[in-house]
Amino acid sequence: MCGIVGYIGKNGAKDILLDGLSKLEYRGYDSAGISVLNKKITTVKAKGQLKNLVSKCEKVDLNGNVGIGHTRWATHGEPSDINSHPHLSMSGKISVVHNGIIENYEELKSNLIKDGVKFVSETDTEVLPHLIEKNYNGDLLDAVIKTTKALKGSYALGIISEDEPDKIIAVRKDSPLIVGLGNGENFIASDIPAILKHTKEVYLLNDNEFVILKKDSVKLVDFDKNEIKRDVYKVDFDDTAAQKGGFDHFMIKEIYEQPQAIKSTLNARVAKGEKIVLDNIGADDLKDISRVFIVACGTAYHAGLVGKTAIERLSGIPVDVDIASEFRYRNPILDKNTLVMVISQSGETADTLAALRLAKEHGCKTFAITNVVGSSVSREADFVFYTHAGPEIAVASTKAYITQLIALYIFALYMAQDKNYVEKSVLEDVKSELLTLPEKVKEALKTDDAAKKIADDIYKETDIFYLGRGLDYAVAMEGSLKLKEISYIHSEPYAGGELKHGPIALIEKGTVVIALNTNNELKGKMESNIKEVVTRGAYIVGILPEGFTDIGESYDKIIKIPDTIPLLAPVTAVVPLQLLSYYVAIKKGCNVDKPRNLAKSVTVE
Ligand code: AGP
Repeated sequence: MCGIVGYIGKNGAKDILLDGLSKLEYRGYDSAGISVLNKKITTVKAKGQLKNLVSKCEKVDLNGNVGIGHTRWATHGEPSDINSHPHLSMSGKISVVHNGIIENYEELKSNLIKDGVKFVSETDTEVLPHLIEKNYNGDLLDAVIKTTKALKGSYALGIISEDEPDKIIAVRKDSPLIVGLGNGENFIASDIPAILKHTKEVYLLNDNEFVILKKDSVKLVDFDKNEIKRDVYKVDFDDTAAQKGGFDHFMIKEIYEQPQAIKSTLNARVAKGEKIVLDNIGADDLKDISRVFIVACGTAYHAGLVGKTAIERLSGIPVDVDIASEFRYRNPILDKNTLVMVISQSGETADTLAALRLAKEHGCKTFAITNVVGSSVSREADFVFYTHAGPEIAVASTKAYITQLIALYIFALYMAQDKNYVEKSVLEDVKSELLTLPEKVKEALKTDDAAKKIADDIYKETDIFYLGRGLDYAVAMEGSLKLKEISYIHSEPYAGGELKHGPIALIEKGTVVIALNTNNELKGKMESNIKEVVTRGAYIVGILPEGFTDIGESYDKIIKIPDTIPLLAPVTAVVPLQLLSYYVAIKKGCNVDKPRNLAKSVTVE
């Protein structure tokens, strides 16, 4: 979704803004723009990729040490130069960048039009510079505070004004924004990678906190201008973690980072023969939990489906898994003994955050699994589990998913360890096997060549099916999502036993079916399902553990993954599916890291 960068300091703002925006490209965007202030505000905007903006900027005098920049992911009004941010007030003296949605913009707009304001764009955002100008009475902060009091919706804002050239005013509500603290220069940004080249010291902002950003000072205040003290957060990864590091794309780099990412998630939490201890959770905090709801979107939801089985099997606690956008509007039955667990890589997904808030309103305990330290869900949930996967830049989630699985297994073991639902020795076996997963995922990465070859065979397909039973079905859902989001091939995941209830009508000679068959107990059943599609001409790519030797003749191609216990097989099985999607997308010439229409962090509903 939209990305914001702001700079004030001793250096030229233009290059810093453009570089910062390039680090936010992963969020997804369709146009971009910057405003630089040097007595007057100069604004340049361009539809399409950032390079369009860069080349436009080369032709304009953009000297100045203060500026704001934006990558826009269109919500109100098509992607175009005019609709791009920054947006200016009528006088041109105030410039605003915005991430979020102003829900009451129509009402605000019609009042402004009555006052004689002329709008030039179709955006909700344009009401902001006009309102700020209307409310301006010699103090930009006052005008911004007054303006935000009239807003409904979500916003992170960066604002500059010709009348107060020594500052940037910023504020956030339900959209991410951080402050970067430099030496004689300061920054605002939607995410840390945008400013990491310049500083590792940041302030993480809460909702309704206003920032007065000057060259040599940063002050946070509330609605009443009371000063807010904030600890400096020191970022624990550097600029190189957010670079491609010799790989062609972030996605493949992140796939290859998975063994290390899993180690980081396990680190200090799981050790053989020792009880699992989770940060900031007291021994009795979760003892009365009788039911768990896992709520998430997209890939994180798929991780939740695996988590359900792990928690139920090991602890006996019933688990429901819901898509956040459904959960929040379906009046779920919740009480104080329900734990609502949200899973979100970014920690900023609007629907997931809303689900978390709904759970809190119902008096539930809340637990967040997230990768982003200081993200909204991490600050609002009662308990937080950081996956520590490192920055995930590619829109298609890989290492975040795999570490969410690990987090869920750890949580399941944690909930199980004081119950007698399964024998202690079983829990110890799961724990021991969990500790082998970094090595096993390293092994699973050796499927790279096989995945590439199969990608060469299937990249021209228009429909691909994924089949699996039990946990393999949950992984099939993730594999199918991965393929469709980056290669734009239509694909459907099905539970093996469900095909004959309708979708088998779509199978014809040559239809590609990726069949996951990793669980010995379900193997026979799954083979029958595979036969059903083979009989109708399907081309079968099997994902099978090394240990399966009597595999019959149903498979046209086989990818072997390392053996593990069935409960943990999603971790190894997903690896060839990620690789397959990657190579299919490459073969098709798709923009792997930034697929069309998608945003990394979906901060609007
Ligand atoms: C993953 O490949 C997707 N791009 C998407 O489904 C993502 O997982 C979803 O939007 C949730 O994001 P979150 O984990 O940051 O909340």
